[in-house]
Order: sequence, then C-alpha cells, then structure tokens
Amino acid sequence: MHRPRSVRDAEVEGKRVLVRVDFNVPLEDGRVADDTRIRAALPTIELLLERGAAEVVLMSHLGRPKGPDPALSMEPVRARLGELLPNERVRLLENTRFDPRETANDPEYARELAANGDVYVNDAFGSAHRAHASTEGAAQLLPAYAGLLLERELGELGSLLEDPERPFVAVLGGAKVADKIGVLESLGGKADAVLIGGKMAEEVDRDDGYELPQDVVAASEFAEDAEARVVAWDAVPDGWLALDVGPATSERYAERIRDARTVFWNGPMGVFEWPRFAAGTRAVAEAVAAADGRTVVGGGDSVRAVEELGLADRIDWISTGGGASLELLEGKDLPGVVAIPEA
Ligand code: 3PG
Repeated sequence: MHRPRSVRDAEVEGKRVLVRVDFNVPLEDGRVADDTRIRAALPTIELLLERGAAEVVLMSHLGRPKGPDPALSMEPVRARLGELLPNERVRLLENTRFDPRETANDPEYARELAANGDVYVNDAFGSAHRAHASTEGAAQLLPAYAGLLLERELGELGSLLEDPERPFVAVLGGAKVADKIGVLESLGGKADAVLIGGKMAEEVDRDDGYELPQDVVAASEFAEDAEARVVAWDAVPDGWLALDVGPATSERYAERIRDARTVFWNGPMGVFEWPRFAAGTRAVAEAVAAADGRTVVGGGDSVRAVEELGLADRIDWISTGGGASLELLEGKDLPGVVAIPEA
C-alpha cells in the first residue's frame, strides 16, 4: 500500500498551507447537523498553527452542486469551524464544486487552487477516492503531505488488509450492493468469516462460502405497516423483501463478533430506520461494541446506527470515509493518496 509522507515531516513555519479537508457534512435549517468531519480535521489544523504556519487555507466540497448554489455554500461550515477553532490565521475557501472544473480535475483550476498555498496537505480521507482538482491536481503542483486524519485512516483500514489479528470477522450489509461486491471479494479472501445481512444477502451465493442468514424478517410490501414475519431465508417468497435478519441469525452473528479479535462492519442488517426492522442491526452494533477485539466501523448508515444507539465511544475506529473506505478495502489505490510522495 502507498504510504504518503506525513504532515509531521513538512516544513511549514512562515508558509501558507493549503489543506484539502472533507467538510462534506449534513446541513439542517442552514446549520451543520453533524460536525464529526470538522472535528476530525482539527488536529492537523492545530498542528500547522503550532508549527508557525503563516496561514492555513482550508478547502472542501459540500454536496454535489452543478455550479454555484447558495444552499451549498460553506458559510454554515465556516460558522461551526469558527466556534470550534477561532483563529484568524485559518481561512476556508468556498465550495470547490461551485466550479465544474473541480470534478473534471482541470489543470488550470488546480493551478488556481494551488496559488493559495506554498505547501499542500490532504486530510480529506472521505474524498481521497476522487481524482479532482482539489484532491489530486493541486497535490501535483506543491510539496504535498498527508494530514493526520488521512494517515490514521490509512493505518486503521490498511491494517485490516495487511495483518489482522485472528479471528477476523467482517460484517457487510446495507442497500448499495453494487458498491460492496468488490469489498466482499477482497475481504472474503482475508477474513475468517464474512457475515452478510440486508440487501447484500439477496445477491450473494452461499456456495461462495459466505455466512448467509438462516432466518430473515420479510414483508410482503415495502410499507411501514407491512406485516413482518420471520421466515427461513430459502423460503422468502418471490416478491417479498428481506428487511432484517431474524433473531436466530442475530444471535449467531453476535457470537461470532464477540469472539473475534478483529471486526470490520459496514452496512446495516436491514431497514433499521423502521423500529420493526432494527433488531438485527441493533444486535450487530451491540456485539461490535462489546467485542474485546479491535473494532472498525465504516459507512454512513452503520456509523449512524452506532451513534444513535450511544455505542460510538466503544468502537475502536469509526471511519470518516464512506466510498473511500470501501475502495481502500477493495485494495484500490486512492488518487488523493498516491498523488502524495511516499516518505
Ligand atoms: C463522501 O461524503 O463520501 C465524500 O465527501 C465524497 O463525496 P462525493 O461522493 O460527493 O464525492
């Protein structure tokens, strides 16, 4: 795996440091609804300030605008950042995606962005799988380093691929099955068990050696008041939807998780937003929190589940990357990472 050189080794005193962060955060009523990604970038910003950077210029995308869009302005993020870290040497540029040249990785736009700094730091792990002007193009134009968060994410997730303590159990679920087949193939060859739930389980062939639910909570209609039943997986009738793993599977999965020395979890076991179908995801979350082994959770929905259940502080590492963590675990090179020279 590519190990980019660290911001700790950068000479920044008196310099303007351009930092790509991932402040793609949820907004509600014009305010930041979850500031986890902002707080995750603070150690790098603080390090640069402590080491005498003349200015720390932050840049990020927010949402997927096609051009300037006031609803996706960085203003609420700027306000939250100012509360968390008031410092006149810190400046946040406007949404990088207000310019369509960002996602096209346009060299001229990369030059315009790079003109804001003497040194470039990438701390945007969540966007490292994007080859955009702010993540990849600008890194080619300035002395480039990995921020502390990026470094930690690469270490935590990379060690799952390189030297996991065994037994290593991966738990994969969620609705976006197409995004996860590559991870399944990659982890399938490394983990001692891959436990599958949610829509994933409908797509996977049990002959490939994956553990599939023996029971599943299924409903005949995708409606909140649907009559849910516990049926054997093989017996899910055509036209029914699998909405959760059943109680026997939850218990069996929880045992495997509790006994593991390394656990990676991505994706809920069912439609956990609906209380009736939350039991399997809750059982997995509680087992991951209770496991003695090293536990890593990635992906928006599973992170939300552990947070809503108040279990987040019992997980060893909660990744800030969704797509980026999946691509890394697939064994792919991340463009934002390989653009930074190795140590
Ligand atoms: C994310 O939230 O996964 C990252 O910020 C990347 O966002 P994107 O999928 O819009 O590139």
